[in-house]
Amino acid sequence: VKSIWLDADPGHDDAVALLLALFGRSSSTHTSPDVHLLGLSTVAGNACGLATWQNAAKLLVAYGADDVERRGGRERERDIALIRGADEPLVQSVRADAAIHGEDGLGGVMGLPALSDPRVQQYLQHSHSRNANGLHTFISHLIALLQERTSKGLAPITIAATGPLTNIAMLLKCAPKHLIRAGVQEIVLMGGAAGCPGNRGPLAEFNILVDPEAASIVFDYDIPVTMAGLNVTHQAIFTPELQATLTAKKSPIRTLLSSAMTFFAQTYETEFDFKCGPPVHDFLVLAYIISPHLFSGPKSSSSDDNGEPARYRVDIERNAHSPAFAATVVDFHDQWRQQHQQQHQQQQQHDETWGKGGRNVRVLQHV
Ligand code: BDR
Ligand code: CA
Repeated sequence: VKSIWLDADPGHDDAVALLLALFGRSSSTHTSPDVHLLGLSTVAGNACGLATWQNAAKLLVAYGADDVERRGGRERERDIALIRGADEPLVQSVRADAAIHGEDGLGGVMGLPALSDPRVQQYLQHSHSRNANGLHTFISHLIALLQERTSKGLAPITIAATGPLTNIAMLLKCAPKHLIRAGVQEIVLMGGAAGCPGNRGPLAEFNILVDPEAASIVFDYDIPVTMAGLNVTHQAIFTPELQATLTAKKSPIRTLLSSAMTFFAQTYETEFDFKCGPPVHDFLVLAYIISPHLFSGPKSSSSDDNGEPARYRVDIERNAHSPAFAATVVDFHDQWRQQHQQQHQQQQQHDETWGKGGRNVRVLQHV
């Protein structure tokens, strides 16, 4: 069972990702989830920071995350931390996406508890940070969590990021490097577009566009990153057939999900002319963590790597005057690094840890 931390900006597809983070199983024969969600932090993105945080609390209640869980005869109390993180990007101005997710980030979603629902209020009251500058609370909570886990010899965690990377970037900036290396196995994120057009700019995908400076910090850090960009998420379409399967049985969660996907399908058709259904972008982050074999991509050509997935250097275009602003530039053939010897020398320190010269990103290509 992998221990994960989810950082999200719910958001319709973030809502589906959260469901998987709570209950995802790699096989229907498994009786309990294959992931253990340690906590959920929210970030401004699809909607403002207040809305994404409140949405997270409503979803946790709707999904029964706080219920006592009975699986395979075991009973355990869930204790999922909720933290309101950054309300604005590091440098850029706030940018939400009401055209896709509605004004409050979960437009059209049915069956959510009201904000005044005591269970929602309880989540919000117990949230580790409740105000607009919660970033420092997020960072200290994560540092304490990693310290505790490493001191107890527990396995490193996986960070799943389905929104702009503001919180994660600041964690990487502020936490001691040795702690991140010992305590975090990998960052799996939805963001960017590898060799395909963007969705909020010629080459800009929304999560990267909201906070390209944060994205740059994350992609440059010498830790394994797995990127689910638009090139792969646009292969995962929630088709009318899947919608019919979902609604074939009735339950409150099915109603919630099908209304979310109906709204998402409508906005995707209006905005992007998607006629066969919306891509379930963020869902893929959790799908990859739970069942990595569903995905394929090039294998490393280095004999040292034993057929491991290839990893690439990825740079973020940060020139706001460029039509390529916020592009995720993947150095698929390792040409840029080889042509920039000086940069390469600076990357020697990375070689000590990953032996990749900054090539730390697995780019998911097929699902
Ligand atoms: C990403 O932006 C948001 O619309 C979705 O939640 C997803 O994380 C796709 O570009
Ligand atoms: Ca998202």
